[in-house]
Amino acid sequence: MRGLVSVVLMLAVVAPSTLAALLAVDYGAEWTKASLVKPGVPFDVLLDRDSKRKMMSTVGWKKDERLFGGDAAAVAARFPEAHYPYVKPLLAGTTIPNNTIYPSPPYLSPDNGRLVFRHPKAPTAAHNIDGAAETTWTPEEILAQQLAYVKGLASAAANEDVKDLFMTVPSYFTQAQRRALKDAAEVAGLSLTGIISEAGAVGLNYAMTRNFPTKEYHMIYDSGALKTTATILSFETKELPIESPLLKGKSKKTFKPKMTNTTIVEVIAFDSEQELGGAILDERLREVLIEEFLAQDGNSAEDIRHDSRALRKLWREASKLKQVLSANNEASASVESLINDIDFRTRVSRTKFEEVCANEASRFSKPIINALRLAGMTQDQLDSVIFFGGNTRVPMVQAAVRTIVGDDKIAQNVNTDEAAVMGAAFYGASQGRAFQSKLKMKLLEKSPYEIGYESGKEYGVVFPAYEVAERQSLSFKPTDDITVDFKYTGSNIPSPAEISRLEIHGIHQAVANLTKDEVEESNVSVNVKLDNRGILHTANAVLTYVTKPEAPSVANKLKGLFGGNKDKVQEGEDGEKADDKTEEELALEQPKEKKIGLRFTEHATGIKPMSAEERRNAKKRLAAINAVEMSAIERGEAVNHLEGYLYRLKNMLGADAPNKALQDFSSSHEKVALSKAVEEAFEWMAEYIEAAETAVLRKKRETIEAMEKPIIRRFQEFSGRNRAIDDFQKAIVAGRAWFDEASRNMTEAISLGNLTRWTQEELDGVKTMLQESEAWAKEKMAAQKAVGEAMHVDPVLLNADLDSRGKALQSHVLGLQKKPMPKPPKSKKAATATSTSVGSEQTGKENDDYPEADTVRTAEDPEPTQVYAHEEL
Ligand SMILES: *[C@@H]1O[C@H](CO)[C@@H](O)[C@H](O)[C@H]1NC(C)=O
Ligand SMILES: *[C@@H]1O[C@H](CO)[C@@H](O)[C@H](O)[C@H]1NC(C)=O
Ligand SMILES: *[C@@H]1O[C@H](CO)[C@@H](O)[C@H](O)[C@H]1NC(C)=O
Ligand SMILES: *[C@@H]1O[C@H](CO)[C@@H](O)[C@H](O)[C@H]1NC(C)=O
Ligand SMILES: *[C@@H]1O[C@H](CO)[C@@H](O)[C@H](O)[C@H]1NC(C)=O
Ligand SMILES: *[C@@H]1O[C@H](CO)[C@@H](O)[C@H](O)[C@H]1NC(C)=O
Repeated sequence: MRGLVSVVLMLAVVAPSTLAALLAVDYGAEWTKASLVKPGVPFDVLLDRDSKRKMMSTVGWKKDERLFGGDAAAVAARFPEAHYPYVKPLLAGTTIPNNTIYPSPPYLSPDNGRLVFRHPKAPTAAHNIDGAAETTWTPEEILAQQLAYVKGLASAAANEDVKDLFMTVPSYFTQAQRRALKDAAEVAGLSLTGIISEAGAVGLNYAMTRNFPTKEYHMIYDSGALKTTATILSFETKELPIESPLLKGKSKKTFKPKMTNTTIVEVIAFDSEQELGGAILDERLREVLIEEFLAQDGNSAEDIRHDSRALRKLWREASKLKQVLSANNEASASVESLINDIDFRTRVSRTKFEEVCANEASRFSKPIINALRLAGMTQDQLDSVIFFGGNTRVPMVQAAVRTIVGDDKIAQNVNTDEAAVMGAAFYGASQGRAFQSKLKMKLLEKSPYEIGYESGKEYGVVFPAYEVAERQSLSFKPTDDITVDFKYTGSNIPSPAEISRLEIHGIHQAVANLTKDEVEESNVSVNVKLDNRGILHTANAVLTYVTKPEAPSVANKLKGLFGGNKDKVQEGEDGEKADDKTEEELALEQPKEKKIGLRFTEHATGIKPMSAEERRNAKKRLAAINAVEMSAIERGEAVNHLEGYLYRLKNMLGADAPNKALQDFSSSHEKVALSKAVEEAFEWMAEYIEAAETAVLRKKRETIEAMEKPIIRRFQEFSGRNRAIDDFQKAIVAGRAWFDEASRNMTEAISLGNLTRWTQEELDGVKTMLQESEAWAKEKMAAQKAVGEAMHVDPVLLNADLDSRGKALQSHVLGLQKKPMPKPPKSKKAATATSTSVGSEQTGKENDDYPEADTVRTAEDPEPTQVYAHEEL
């Protein structure tokens, strides 16, 4: 946590406003942590719906209701058959896991040999799509649902649809597993823009608040639920030129690159123990509980291991027990009604716990030993060992590390839960974006697997194991068609070894197109790369060929003898045509390398990713479930609205209502009707709320709202009336002032024989309007007065009518005011001097000639408030 403050500061400098929101996810087998990077949003861990900083990586169903994280775990003992935790190690899986941690164990699909989970009573939404009572979920589909859930949280926090995802995985994740992540992200409506290793992410987080003027070596010891990894990283801060996309392709001579301090985090070596971690310890502890129960109650001997609910209850108890035993030497466990209504109670000592985990305990130190051996280092050369992962809190695990590296090297200086997601979020945001930062970091990753290729009889290594690699070029003889198989080779081969097959087409035609004597030699070269996600791709395939210099013609040979212009031909090489060169001389160029792009196709082999159709179907199912959930949310809101509304009304109608408006403005008849409606609605809710549909709930509220509406209207009329009358009167006063002044001006103009600005009809129109409005107001106000203080009677004088009359008068007068001053008839002199059209033109649009009425006061108009009132118009 210590580093967080400075990180917040850094990101403020770092994130320009154009940065699209990025979701970083540290997806663990048991816990998922997420972070949102968006300008204006504090750089921190994303909270789930219960404001928790980490969410269990679990999807579970309570009949038709889908639950995530802790909510799912909470109902797992009741619905173990539809509870799906720990799917991470099963992604792209083809072997049944050798443990008992799955309440609904996966099996191999007869269709494609891939792991799937059974969902015995399919939720209605999925049922409607599949048409089967039972459905299945692939691990990818389970992950997709979790990612979609996190995406929902992120989008709500970002207030935009978050689309980009950056993830962490163990370094040993295979091509098939990485492709599975990509598929799951796509099904979740996310684009997986990058993957880094978990240890790399922790290392980046460690480096975010530090400087490494001299090279340091730290080991990240990461023990999670189902794997334990030791990774040696080197850290070094160097001055390096800033890699700017703007400078790409520009000559280095003209642009002196700016230098910046960059911390390079390099993966040196790592080793992992899979199926070793917190969940395995839980499994061992549960076994202790099972045996203890069997010892206490021999009768249930057969049942307990086949009762998934009982197993799930013991699982929860075992996890709690492990936590207590991390700090205590002994702990008690108890499960009510474990099976056949039998309550179970026992005590377990830490000694017992460590005894049953003796095999595991020694395995916890293996990755450290192996990583050191792979790096060719001794523990003395490590600057520290950094703990990460919840399982490093278990004393047995810490002891296993201490025996190898000693006490003094152990450092608990990153957040055991959050370091990876924070490192990933920071690094993900800095990748491929316009990103200004004082803090530059570069992560150099490595894979434990060697990737090789085979094409006919040719074979070789593309990317060696434990080497930093991004791109590689392969060269083949141009044959009819080239097929290249990429697969894992070397000493550490995941099963199956196949990765992908590349087929290059049209080589024959491309070669045939080149005249034989023109070509000296040709090659097909294939550029392969590992993308941001560590997924192997063919970037391009090109036919490269070298043209032969053409044989000189007889004429040229002669010229060559006497012309002596060979130098000039060489000049021509640089692109300058020598004037005296002939066509044939130009052909005498040096051999030139040329390239033709080739068409190619690439498809996955071994464990195949989801097909387009599978992804479509998966999306369809999830969309159907979302739709059901959305309508459930809408229904919930409708229930809340109705309920809230009824309580508010009930309260306002009550004797001790703090606000009596509703009572004051309603007639006794209305009061009675409304109270009755509210009471009836409460009774109705008590009985039918569970089954009521959203539309019915909304209708219910609307019906009562319609009864309340006339009362609200009266209240609004009452509260707005003084203002409305005031405005109306101001308009009348201002209108009259204008009329008087205009009439005076007119009389004066007529007496001087001058042109008048307005016609008599126009002024009469204003007069009529004033008189009518005044008469109308007089009548209405009298009528309203007759109503008197009876607030529950509908008003006669409506605020809206006052407003519209006042506005009509205002706009009428302002319209007249825009009228230009008539021009006196043009004098004959002026007409002859210049063009004929000038005199007839009116300059009416320019109001400057006619000062606004409110800026000039006549002597006869001493009332400044009237002028102000005019302004108010
Ligand atoms: C599965 O676990 C059992 C018991 O720990 C062990 O005997 C067996 O060899 C394991 N099988 C595999 C395939 O790992
Ligand atoms: C890099 O860091 C060193 C030590 O802090 C400093 O002296 C140097 O100026 C920095 N270089 C750049 C380009 O910021
Ligand atoms: C053959 O050459 C022609 C002319 O250069 C070109 O248009 C055509 O695309 C080439 N065909 C192949 C198969 O490369
Ligand atoms: C073709 O491949 C060979 C062997 O890799 C290489 O020596 C040669 O330079 C290549 N030729 C071309 C035109 O790329
Ligand atoms: C009346 O005449 C005076 C002086 O020309 C002028 O400033 C004023 O705007 C006129 N008033 C109206 C209402 O036209
Ligand atoms: C009226 O006309 C006379 C002469 O044409 C002119 O001097 C005077 O300014 C005019 N007065 C007004 C108020 O327009």
